[in-house]
Order: sequence, then C-alpha cells, then structure tokens
Amino acid sequence: MISLPSCKSGIIKPAFLSASILVKAFLLSSFLQAASPCVPVGLQCEHLTNPLGIDAPAPRLSWRLEDSRRGARQMAYQLHVSTDSAGISQGKVSGWQSGKVMSDGQLVAYGGKTLQPFTKYFWRVEVWDKDGKPSLSAVSSFETGLMNSRNWQGFWISDGDNVALKPAPYFRKAFETKKKIKSARAYIAAGGLYELYLNGRKVGNHRLDPMYTRFDRRTLYVTYDVTSQLQTGKNAIGVLLGNGWYNHQSTAVWFFDKAPWRARPTFCLDMRITYEDGSVETITSGKDWKTALSPIVFNSIYTAEHYDARLEQPGWNTANFDDANWKEVILRAAPSTNIVAQAMHPIRNVETIPAKSINKVNDTVFVYDLGRTIAGVSQIRVKGPAGTIIRLKHGERLYKNGRVDQSNIDAHYRPTDTTDPFQTDIFILSGKGDETFMPHFNYKGFQYVDVTSSQPVELTKESLTGYFMHSDVPAAGHVESDNPTLDKIWWATNNSYLSNLFGYPTDCPQREKNGWTGDAHIAIETGLYNFDGITIYEKWLADHRDEQQPNGVLPSIIPTGGWGYEWGNGPDWTSTIAIIPWNIYLFYGDKKILVDNYDNIKRYVDHINEQSPSGLTTWGLGDWVPVKSKSPVEFTSSIYYFTDVSILAKTAKLLGKQADADMYSALATKIKNAFNAKFLTKETGMYGTGLQTELSASLHWGLVPDELKRKVAANLANRVIADNNHIDVGLLGTKTILNALSDNGQADLAYKVASQETFPSWGWWIVNGATTLYENWPIDAKSDISMNHIMFGEIGAWYYKALGGMKPDPAQPGFKNVLLAPHFVTGLDHFEATHESPYGTIRSSWKRVGKSVVYSLTVPPNSTATLSLPGSTVAQLLQAGTYQFDLK
Ligand code: BGC
Repeated sequence: MISLPSCKSGIIKPAFLSASILVKAFLLSSFLQAASPCVPVGLQCEHLTNPLGIDAPAPRLSWRLEDSRRGARQMAYQLHVSTDSAGISQGKVSGWQSGKVMSDGQLVAYGGKTLQPFTKYFWRVEVWDKDGKPSLSAVSSFETGLMNSRNWQGFWISDGDNVALKPAPYFRKAFETKKKIKSARAYIAAGGLYELYLNGRKVGNHRLDPMYTRFDRRTLYVTYDVTSQLQTGKNAIGVLLGNGWYNHQSTAVWFFDKAPWRARPTFCLDMRITYEDGSVETITSGKDWKTALSPIVFNSIYTAEHYDARLEQPGWNTANFDDANWKEVILRAAPSTNIVAQAMHPIRNVETIPAKSINKVNDTVFVYDLGRTIAGVSQIRVKGPAGTIIRLKHGERLYKNGRVDQSNIDAHYRPTDTTDPFQTDIFILSGKGDETFMPHFNYKGFQYVDVTSSQPVELTKESLTGYFMHSDVPAAGHVESDNPTLDKIWWATNNSYLSNLFGYPTDCPQREKNGWTGDAHIAIETGLYNFDGITIYEKWLADHRDEQQPNGVLPSIIPTGGWGYEWGNGPDWTSTIAIIPWNIYLFYGDKKILVDNYDNIKRYVDHINEQSPSGLTTWGLGDWVPVKSKSPVEFTSSIYYFTDVSILAKTAKLLGKQADADMYSALATKIKNAFNAKFLTKETGMYGTGLQTELSASLHWGLVPDELKRKVAANLANRVIADNNHIDVGLLGTKTILNALSDNGQADLAYKVASQETFPSWGWWIVNGATTLYENWPIDAKSDISMNHIMFGEIGAWYYKALGGMKPDPAQPGFKNVLLAPHFVTGLDHFEATHESPYGTIRSSWKRVGKSVVYSLTVPPNSTATLSLPGSTVAQLLQAGTYQFDLK
C-alpha cells in the first residue's frame, strides 16, 4: 500500500537500498507527502493528540486534511489500528482495518476487536482526495489505561488522620528494579489532590490533578509515562496529597466542609513497569508505604496555602532517604467504585506573568501589581532569617492607600477564626539562603499581591512572578479589528473564560470557584469559538449525570457538596444539560455527548413538564444582575424550558427516536403557544413590557412567529435607541441582545451597543482598565463585584457570529458546512475572525478600501460554506478554498 518515494529527488539511490535505508525511506515517505496536495494531519483520539490512559471502549479517531486546492474533498478513507508499530509503518495488515469507506467523514469510532488495557495502539488513516488519489497520514497513537476498575492492583491508602488535621501528608516507597526497563506508566487516582514524584522529581507538569468531581460517585485517575524517570536499581516514589474539594476545611456559604464525601485525602497508585525481556511488574500503593506530615501546614483550594520551610525533609522522595521515623499508612475504601480515566486537557501554569511594578511601602510591606487580573498563583523568591513569616495577600483591587482590598471577593467566606485568611499564602522561611514558594494545592483570582514580612526583607520587582493557571485547552480562534476597544474586550473575555476553566467551568476564580450552571451555558459559544474545550465539557456533563436526581432535578452548581438543589436551579441555569451538549454537537459534529446525555435531558424536561403542565414555569432566578430593568422570571425561565424541549426534540430526531421527536416537538409548540398567549401583543409585536431582554430573548430563542419577527425586531431597535444605544439587560439578556439585533437586520445598531465605551457597556470596563470581564455593570457597584466573571461573556462569540458572520450549520454540524453572513458594520473598517474547526481554519475577513469592501474568506478542505453577503438575497454555496470579493 505504501509506495517508496520517487527517487527523482536523488536522495535515495536504488543501488544503496538496505534495511535501514528502507526505514528512512518510509520516514521520508511521510515527509514527502507533506508536499502532496492532500495530506491527512492533526490525528486525534478522543479529541486529544497521542493520549495515554484512554478507557473508552470505542475511542473516537479524527483527522483533518491539509489541502489548499479549491474544492478539496475527501472521497473515502481507510483506518488502520494496530499494536504493531513497525508493521503499521510498513503497511502490513494486522489489527483493525476499516476497509475503504466511501465517506467524507473525519470522525470515526474504533470498530475493531475489544481493546486491551495497558496497550499502545498505533494508527493511521489513508484518504482519497477529490480526484480519488490516495494519501497516507503519519502514524499516530493512543494508549489504553486500566479500562476497568477491576484492573487496579493497588490499595487505597491514607495517613488515617482526622479531617480537621491541617498539614498535608507525604507518602513514600522505595523499591528496586533488577532488569532493564523498556517502559513504565504510573496510574494514580486520588480523593483530593496529589503531586507525584519519582526519584526526587515531580512527574509531569499538570497542576491540581485530578480534576474536581463528585468524589463519591466518580473518581478520576491520571496516566503518566514515567519511563525516563525510573532507573535500574534503587528508586523511590513520593506522593504529596492536598485537600482540594475532597477535604474542604475552609468554611463558606456553600457548606463544602459538610460534603458527604469529605475525608482525609487518599490515593491509589499502580506503576506498571515493562522490562526489556517482556515481563511486567506493578509497584502498587499498599501497606508497605510510609507517611509523614509535609511542610505544607495548611492547604485549602478555596483560600490559600501555608508552608513552613523549616519542616522540609530534603530527599523525602528519593531512594536513600531514611524514613525510619515515618508512620505506617492505613488501607481504606476507595472514594467511589467508579474510577475512570481523566481524558482531558489538564490544568497547567500556562502563562508566566512578571510583576509590572512593586510598591515598597516600608521594609516589611511590598505591594506587587501584575498589570492584569488572572486566576492562578504567585511565586515568591526571598531570603531571610529562619522563622520569618511572609504573608502574601492576593486581591483584585487596592484601597486608596495602595494596599490590597479583598472586600469585593470575600463576601461569602465564613471563617471561624483568624488562622485561614482569605487568598493569603503564608510562607515561613527556613533561613537557608534564597527560598522559593508557590502553592501546590490552591489557586486564586488576583492582580495584586500584598506581601508583608514579620521582619525586614529585601524584595525587588523580580522577586514575585504570577502564573496564569487554567485548563490548558488549545486556542481555536482569533479576532482582530481596527477598533482597539473591541479587540481588548475580546482579549478580556478570553481571560475571564480561561480564568474560569479548571476542569469544570466556574463563575469566578476567587469568591466562589463554583460550577455555576447559568454562567457556563451563557459562555459556551464564546468558549467553543475561541478554545478547543470539548474534553472539559464532556467531563462536566458526566458531573451533571452524577448530580442529577432520579426525578431529573439538577443543582445550580455542579459539582456540589449538596448545596444548590433548592436555590438557583431552574431552567434558566440548569439548562446546561441540553444547551451544552447541543453546542458541542454543533461545533464538533460529534454526537457522543448527545447520546450520553439523552436520557438526562429527557428526565430534566419531563420533570418541568410535570411541575408546569401549562407550559410556563416560574422556576428560576431570572435576568441576573441587570443594568436597571429585570424581565419577569416566568418570561425568561419559560424560554429556557422551550429551548431545552426544542433541543430534546431535535436530538431525538437525530438519534432516530421518532416517537420522542414527535412528542417533544408537540410539547415545544405547546410551550411556545402558551408563551405567546401570555406575553405577546400581536397587533404591536410587543413582548411583555418591551424590555430589551424580553424582546431579544424571544427573537433569539425562536419564540416569535415568523410574520412578526420584523415588528419585534423594530420594537427592540426602538427600545435600544431609547436606552441611548446602550444595554439594559442582565445575564440572560447579554446572551441575546446583540444576536437578536444582528440576526434581524440591525447589525449596525448591535455594533453601536457592543462598542460603547460609556456606562453601561463592556467597553466602559475596558476604558476603566479592565483586563477581564466583571460581574456588574457599574465599576463602583456595592455588591456582585467580582472582577473576573464570565457570565456577561457572550460578546466574545458574537464577534464571530455577527461581524465575521460565521456559524455552524445545524444541518451539517461541526462546520461541515459553514454559514457565513458577515456584517460590514458602520463604524468599523476592518474585521477578521479565524476559527480552527474540525475541518481546518475558517477565515472571514473584511476591509474597507475607499468606497468598497474587500471580503476574503477561507473554507477549509472537505467542507463547504453558504455565503450570504449583505445586500444580496441569494446565498452562494462555496466549496473549500480561499476567495476574495470586491464589493462596491
Ligand atoms: C455567582 C453567579 C451565579 C449566581 C447565581 C453568584 O454568586 O457568582 O455567577 O450565576 O450567583 O445566582
């Protein structure tokens, strides 16, 4: 199947062909293919590149085409998955071959024999291009993990101490290997957080592993390739455990300290070593481990970490360390019986942010400014006498006297004493020269760090560094324009989005760190246009399934320790169960999340139907933190109920459940009719009292009868103009106001609103120095004043949808067909949006040149676009390729 590269290049002379040259020739073959017009690239398994520790029995394999030709297309594909890496490179048939499938699909589930645990599978895809010419990808791989909880050999261990004990425990075990190591994998699951060390070095660069789940229902394990960290002979494994959400010692209004799963942190580890002779040995956690308390004398995911460097035990995680004084561990039950792979992008220290300035107040007080608001940690480097206490108080703003002010973020904290100050790390020096501290098991939201020392120390601007932490999802979009405020809003939106992505979407990184459902569905499109977030959302929807009650009810924050089933969990918030899977489907063309959540969406909708047989519901919070006007809760909640039922009906159809599709379509119609009967004045096209949220939400979510759309849109435009071209909405209205205008002939007005720089607007925050989005419109509001909230973040998606005009087509999701309808709005001379879709880069770019507009766009290979240009009533169907239009 694989042909040798042609020798025209003169690189390979047939006379010299030998075995080693053959291997090189194959490598070269993939290299030369890069020059071929169509190359399958970007191979992924479960939406990750070369992942380790995959538990999915039928992992999803996907790829893209690199083919810049007009009309580039895939006519057919053939997949080959095998454990034989050399064989697969040479085209030998073994393992699973899909056979040549006449299809343009680029996302295919593995369909071969049952996958074995602990096994590396190599795979490649061959595609046939638009002319029927074949082309092979490079070889990619995925490796299975335990695949079944029964494959664990280790014991769950803990130090058995009380949940109230503050210091974090160390665990260690020394062992010897006698044979030459071929490869080694560490599998580690934990209740709480862990850092894993081998022979004195931390394994991997993840932070805050494992991701937060409802520990008593689902526990995640992480896989590492530790081959290079092991040696033949003596080795030592060290594990440091943190509390995370598992053992929440800080007290706040959500009662995580009373979570049903709460216990002293625990872990289970299997380290599987494969020797050169083919034999396998598994080093496991068990009774032969020892434990001691670490220098982390306190750690709270919510507040901070305290570290006493005088308690360090150098070499604690190395083989020759004397652990005679360490305690025995205890064996305990697993936090849950459901231990599954963490198959997602991990949290990392993604960006290093040097301090922008230091304000030395006196010899013992220094205030650092990072110049921007982030989620993450600070790291300090300092020298001082043993016992010196350094306190690092983190916050988003300053008092007039230049000291850190936490009053906007500590409102819900309920400390019981003064030992756990909010967002304040405490570092006690050992006195041994330059010392560095960065918390292991905590992150914060901040821009400023107020450093105080119990005795004079010397600090410079360089002594403190910030690290922006978040789930390290690849960027998937970019926006730029000739309006700097617009570009800054986009950047700030992404900063808030990422600051609120820690293995689950949160509301804010400081005051709560809660998985507020409403905030997350509002931000889903902003997230997906800008970042490759599918793995995080698939995990979070599994968290939803863990939390859902048998009657369908979901809590308002997910995960939760129990709080949130009573407050804030109406359909305006917990519609995440339907809205998030539907958007993942639209952006990735991947149905799995809909299949996995179908019954859950149904149970959820059925519950509301039982509670609200009329079709209208008053269950919800309504348009949260509005500028001045608030629409009735029944209005907005019924809209979300309608949206969920509509998604359910579409999903049922998609999954071939016709009876459900019919039933839920009928229910959607019933809700719509009830809604319009109550809130619509047909003669005038007015909804409710004509507030911005009432008019825009009805339009955006599809409640308005077709024949009235123009009237309603005109009413909305008049309302906005009467509001001086500014928003008057809350959380729910921010989702709809700009979209409803630009989708209904009012794009210029939408842009006016989006680009305002006076109160109330996104630009108002920016001109006042914001680098993230805020929780409230006035910058001097008295409550709801976090400075890093994503809940008003829909504007980040609107740029793509309205100015770039780029939307997924529900009939051909995953941008198989791109809907393109750019708006060349008055007041803007240039705009460009790019999005990395499953098929490749979509680009939509326009520029005013004199009196005309030059519009250029790129449709990725194997996809098409339906282009609707302003002023034209006919849409054009475009094949893959790059186009330019000169529009007079
Ligand atoms: C959170 C919001 C959330 C809201 C629900 C707040 O405390 O920060 O973002 O959606 O509560 O009411």
